[in-house]
Amino acid sequence: MSKNILVTGGCGFIGSNFVRFVLANRDDVKITNLDVLTYSGNPENLADLQNDSRYNFVHGDIRDEELLGKLFDECDAVVHFAAESHVDRSILDSKPFIESNVLGTQILLDAARKAWGTEKGRFVHVSTDEVYGDLPLDKPELLFTESTPLNPHSPYSSSKAASDLLVMAAHHTFGLNVNITRCSNNFGPYQFPEKVIPLFVTNLIEGKKVPLYGDGRNVRDWLHVDDHCEAILTVLEKGINGEVYNIGGNNERSNLELTHMILEVMGKGKDMIQPVEDRLGHDRRYAIDPTKIKTQLGWQPTRSAWPQALEATVKWYVDNAGWWQRVKSGAYREYYQKQYG
Ligand code: NAD
Ligand code: DAU
Repeated sequence: MSKNILVTGGCGFIGSNFVRFVLANRDDVKITNLDVLTYSGNPENLADLQNDSRYNFVHGDIRDEELLGKLFDECDAVVHFAAESHVDRSILDSKPFIESNVLGTQILLDAARKAWGTEKGRFVHVSTDEVYGDLPLDKPELLFTESTPLNPHSPYSSSKAASDLLVMAAHHTFGLNVNITRCSNNFGPYQFPEKVIPLFVTNLIEGKKVPLYGDGRNVRDWLHVDDHCEAILTVLEKGINGEVYNIGGNNERSNLELTHMILEVMGKGKDMIQPVEDRLGHDRRYAIDPTKIKTQLGWQPTRSAWPQALEATVKWYVDNAGWWQRVKSGAYREYYQKQYG
């Protein structure tokens, strides 16, 4: 097991949950969290770990080669979350996605290779099911497997697919010890309220309507963030060098079904739905086949069952209004105005 893990993007949604999950479940591990703190990076997400001697925060960019040189000397694994992560933002402006997701990943790979060569270290690249493109609604039997061809549609998913290819190139060309994980949609605490679940819940608390794109029939496959974190830790500890692992919980829901569930949990009526123009190039359906990670590495989701897991997440945002109110103030207002008018 790696003892000194460099986590990139650990102040974001999944990264912060991962840091907390690993420190709670492994006594002998130290984590350095490298995060440049973009709009979605929030050190408050890990405020409870401030005094934990096993946790160290470094404010910096994955594109800073000099800084990476120092950090890689002191770690034996990297779990790479840092990325621009929101599809709608990539449609408004794709440049930061290329800069961080593509160029940033290559710079990180080069630093790992220089520090570790072919023998040491492990590079776990956290990718997404969106690299596979989408599936039709009328063929529910179709699922994404690890051998589904890459066919990304948005600037975001294209930048993630590019980074996946660069990771495999570092493996094949230079022998870097790598894994790629491709997970479906996550839900849980500390998700930036631009993503559909925290956006809808916090809008409803504020008395605002929820902007549902298009006909609402698009399907997403929802997994609790702690199940994702456990899967990534499993890959870090047991993954076979050079392998890709899909992660998902077979929990497909249409956006309409999701919205109705949120409204019901929050005691609100369907009149709170505001149909809005569809997302450009909106992927219809994502659905992961997680057979490989289950059978080869023994991972199982245990925290994602609906409606309980969704209810608990809604309750977290209700109970932690201070957290998202601070997040929703300031620069986020400008983005909301641009996106929804
Ligand atoms: P997020 O936007 O909440 O967090 C991203 C973090 O990366 C932020 O803390 C940000 O400050 C940091 N970051 C961005 N650019 C950086 C740079 N150049 N240098 C250093 N730090 C930088 O994103 P998230 O939802 O937590 O997603 C994390 C990763 O997981 C992403 O790679 C994403 O593609 C992947 N993923 C997300 C989901 C999901 O449902 N959210 C599902 C599958 C995969
Ligand atoms: O599948 C994994 C991906 O899931 C990750 O790689 C991405 O980082 C993450 O953002 C997420 O992408 P989506 O585009 O699926 O998530 P989002 O929360 O933006 O949207 C989920 C669905 O809800 C999607 O079909 C669009 C719809 N939606 C979203 C927003 C923000 C709405 O109807 N209205 C909205 O306002």
